[in-house]
Amino acid sequence: MNTIVTQPSAAPVIQALRSLGYSAGTAVADLIDNSLDAKATIVEIEFKYFEHDGAIIIKDNGHGMNEEELQSAMNIGSKDPRFKRRPDELGRFGMGLKTASFSLGKRLSVVTKYNGLYSQRCWDLDYVSQCNEWRLFTEVPDDIRELVGEIEGESGTVICIDKLDRFMRAGTENPLQENSVFAKVRRVHHHLEFVFHSIIENKNVRIYLNNNELVSWDPFMITHPSTVEGETQILNINGNKIKIKYYILPHASYLTEEEYKIAGGIRGWRDHQGYYIYRENRLLHFGDWLGMFQKDSSSQLARVRVDLPNSADDDWQVDIKKSAVIPPDNARDRLESIAKFVRKISRDVFYYRTQGSHLNHNFKGSLNTWELSGSDEGQQFILNRNHPILSEIHNRIDNETSKLLNLYLKFVQLGSPSNIIDSPKAEEESLQMVSDAVKELVIQFASTLINLKVVQNMQQLLDALITQPAFDSLNRKTLKSIIEEANISHE
Ligand SMILES: Nc1ncnc2c1ncn2[C@@H]1O[C@H](COP(=O)(O)OP(=O)(O)O)[C@@H](O)[C@H]1O
Ligand SMILES: [Mg+2]
Repeated sequence: MNTIVTQPSAAPVIQALRSLGYSAGTAVADLIDNSLDAKATIVEIEFKYFEHDGAIIIKDNGHGMNEEELQSAMNIGSKDPRFKRRPDELGRFGMGLKTASFSLGKRLSVVTKYNGLYSQRCWDLDYVSQCNEWRLFTEVPDDIRELVGEIEGESGTVICIDKLDRFMRAGTENPLQENSVFAKVRRVHHHLEFVFHSIIENKNVRIYLNNNELVSWDPFMITHPSTVEGETQILNINGNKIKIKYYILPHASYLTEEEYKIAGGIRGWRDHQGYYIYRENRLLHFGDWLGMFQKDSSSQLARVRVDLPNSADDDWQVDIKKSAVIPPDNARDRLESIAKFVRKISRDVFYYRTQGSHLNHNFKGSLNTWELSGSDEGQQFILNRNHPILSEIHNRIDNETSKLLNLYLKFVQLGSPSNIIDSPKAEEESLQMVSDAVKELVIQFASTLINLKVVQNMQQLLDALITQPAFDSLNRKTLKSIIEEANISHE
């Protein structure tokens, strides 16, 4: 069959690319992603205001680009989204540099330095529209070149966006006034502190906005003593490991006014409930239950962190702006059941507190008796040792009794029906290799049975031990040798 090359005409494509629905915050975040992908340790963002226009400058000390790389980076769709990305890479569609910039203004200038050599390119959408062709300038305008200054060191990149028709209505009849522009800049500032909080916390990068360093905003109030924290659960969804951890924030009555205000974030408490979806530590989406549940006041204390690797992009339908996700069907059930669960706890704390309760608020842990704990070996149910009632029991009893109780709980946990299904009974009667921790457990348990006079002799002791689900993987001979080695007496 015959084909005919059909080039999309430039002018309408530009309009479409400019209207993907970026907010100023998501656009700047997408540009910072590029600096982080280039391994920058310092990123400086500057918003400049001139009377009829402004400029947004993002400077980094990353690895920069050579001329060829820059040429390809300026291409619309510079990388195929189906290519596998480096494990920590934030980029995705090969579009962000262009689409994010054009959502703010009509001109994008890039000056980059690689091994001491400068390269530069500039898109001017007015010019592209005028000639209706994707014509890229190989030099940036003199005034912009002056504005971005030199790049210190051997490598780095500066991008500058001006003709800010979208960001500040430059070039229109009523451009934004200076105070409105800077109010908008402040919102961007908060947004970035939010999106990159986890990345900033890791301390490998410092990000500045108009010379003010971004400070990470912790949505989960992790350091507050009254925050309830669930166990990390790991789901294996279509070959990708997804980490999930829930938090119930403290009731307002346990927060200072300042703490309450900060935790309310940019949108207020109600609109900060729900899933917080991170991709390579960078926040993609937050503030709702992904369409599974409605937001309501009593659920506003519940926030659930979900960590995705970038290999899960396709599965979770990460969008071009990196601000929305759609979970795959086989993750929905799990997410939904976790949501149901945390929403209930949130409700309990929310109402219980409002009615004035006597619950001790100094506990750090959840109100569940059992927690699901995920690890590479699979999932396991573990007893919640921080349960407030259990903590209270420990407070009221002496040390010896406390130890005995702990030992018992350890066995309850090891013997939980859900934890023992998979462990095969050891068949062979040869001496097995046993870790010190397991040995210790056998010895502790055996001594307790002897002290409590539950068993009278070695035969009975071995019978008791061998029936313990916790020791399912050990044979009789091994158990006997551990006991003999420890020299536990029956008298
Ligand atoms: N600040 C930067 N430093 C170094 N390289 C960059 C920078 N910004 C963009 N690039 C290069 O340009 C390419 C295209 O960027 P972009 O359009 O955002 O797509 P993506 O990030 O999805 O690859 C990047 O893959 C990277 O190679
Ligand atoms: Mg990018």
